[in-house]
Amino acid sequence: MDRTLMMIKPDAVRRNLVGEVLRRVENAGLKIVGLRMVHLSIEDAQEFYRVHAERPFYASLCKYMSSGPIVAGVLEGEDSVRRWRELMGATNPAEAAPGTIRKDLAVSLEENSVHGSDARETADQEIRFFDLKLPLRG
Ligand code: CMP
Repeated sequence: MDRTLMMIKPDAVRRNLVGEVLRRVENAGLKIVGLRMVHLSIEDAQEFYRVHAERPFYASLCKYMSSGPIVAGVLEGEDSVRRWRELMGATNPAEAAPGTIRKDLAVSLEENSVHGSDARETADQEIRFFDLKLPLRG
């Protein structure tokens, strides 16, 4: 059994899609073993996505990710990193396979509704980030 981090991003929370995403996770047989709604500050978002700091979309991404609450969750299951990424679909919804969350629900490349860790080591780091740092903000 291994674990991965899921985020339901501000665009999806805003459009009342939290339940829809969680339903897909549960139907796929992944176990939700942690769940938390948080409103990231811009600094939180900058830290979470610092691996992308040099990319042209970084500033806009951090602004968007702090524009409203997100839901962060920990998913558990055999091969959970890969299975959650498969459920999400490609980063760009225009390239995502039919039936994936991003194909069905996402707004754009930036507002792509969900995030998942890309490897086991990243998952450990990202899960720790949410465990330790994030108070609910008004
Ligand atoms: P995510 O999987 O959370 O990883 C980085 C995020 O940056 C991505 O989803 C999108 O929300 C956003 N993003 C915006 N533009 C791009 C781009 N050109 N390539 C990759 N990610 C992008």
